Amino acid sequence: MIDPDGRLRRLVDELTDSGELIPVWRASFLAVPRHRFLPDTVWRPAGRGLRPLRRVDDPQGWLDRAYERESVVIQVDDGHPDGDRGRHITSSASHPGVVAGMLAVLDVQVGMSVLEIGTGSGYNAALLATRLGASRVTTIEVDPGLANQAREALCAAGFGAVTVIAGDGVLGHPPRAPYERVMSTAAVTEVPYSWVAQTQPGGLVLTPWATPYYPGGLLSLTVDGAGIARGGIAGDVSFMWLRGQRPPPTYTASIDTSAGTPSSTRLPAHDVAGIPGAAFAISLKVAGCALIHRPMRRGSGVLWFVDPSSGAWASMSYSDDASTGEVRQAGPRRLWDEIEVAHQWWSEVGKPSLDAWRFTVTPSGQRIEPATASATLPGWAG
Ligand SMILES: C[S@@+](CC[C@H](N)C(=O)[O-])C[C@H]1O[C@@H](n2cnc3c(N)ncnc32)[C@H](O)[C@@H]1O
Repeated sequence: MIDPDGRLRRLVDELTDSGELIPVWRASFLAVPRHRFLPDTVWRPAGRGLRPLRRVDDPQGWLDRAYERESVVIQVDDGHPDGDRGRHITSSASHPGVVAGMLAVLDVQVGMSVLEIGTGSGYNAALLATRLGASRVTTIEVDPGLANQAREALCAAGFGAVTVIAGDGVLGHPPRAPYERVMSTAAVTEVPYSWVAQTQPGGLVLTPWATPYYPGGLLSLTVDGAGIARGGIAGDVSFMWLRGQRPPPTYTASIDTSAGTPSSTRLPAHDVAGIPGAAFAISLKVAGCALIHRPMRRGSGVLWFVDPSSGAWASMSYSDDASTGEVRQAGPRRLWDEIEVAHQWWSEVGKPSLDAWRFTVTPSGQRIEPATASATLPGWAG
């Protein structure tokens, strides 16, 4: 029995009721028991880190985790945690609602072949296999241990004909190209051209797209007969990075804020960090700047802006009770000043939302520009 106590059906009903799961995928979600793709040790957030949840210690808790509408962490610290303490999430079975949403946008039809980058648990590959047939699904995982686990889980669940490759997904998998669909489940800032090159004309490349400032949108690109992909952001998603595009780490704990030049601002924190269209535009204008949000007591916190390559930083302490935020900045760039200028530009050109931008990926790289000539944004310098 794949669903002895009805957990799977309850999850599928919840996803259907929330609108995340569209009818065409319902039978697939009912046919793939998510717990069969989870390792015996998964990880849960605990304080500022992660702690293991072992099936052997808490079988019910482990099973509950599998059927919650949450992502489930299946690897921390690239498989090398410090004992029972995890610091960074390096693989997860994605939130089932996000999986359903991405599959809806992927728009697969029977007969298509799909390349997935980021096998993780293998759950998504299994879902694809139910619709397309396992032999039409190729999936690549950079971590060999995870690739093995996923291969075994797929075999045990009857999807042994899925091709699981242990390798760097940035290269795609030319031997089985072309694909009608290429889908990454790890975020990029630069779409690898190999994904476009390995997609059939008329096919789609779907990937989470993010910068160290902008947390992420789902980028959908259509590939034309000349091997050029065009498209835009089709919704908000937040994913872990594709290894190789992980931004450099940013440390704020060791910054001596007393060394920064103080000033104040009337610009609310939400306006520069909480509005996707603004964050996207600022991230394009203030290149190389990472945003870190440290919420504190209710309605207060600190936004950090860090450029790891130059060492410049700025902080903006805000509180809902105060009409101004306190700014400090130091280093070769005045990052807060740059943020304010970029935000002002975004406001003056009519606060464009994410769909005002078009992405083009060619063999010589990726371009992001205003979507239409009529929406050309004065002052946009690329
Ligand atoms: C969000 S998880 C994938 C979830 C997965 N699709 C599932 O159904 O469980 C992202 C995965 O991408 C993998 N990954 C990161 N960089 C990669 C790369 N360069 N090539 C292939 N896989 C990569 C990570 O190891 C991680 O397992």
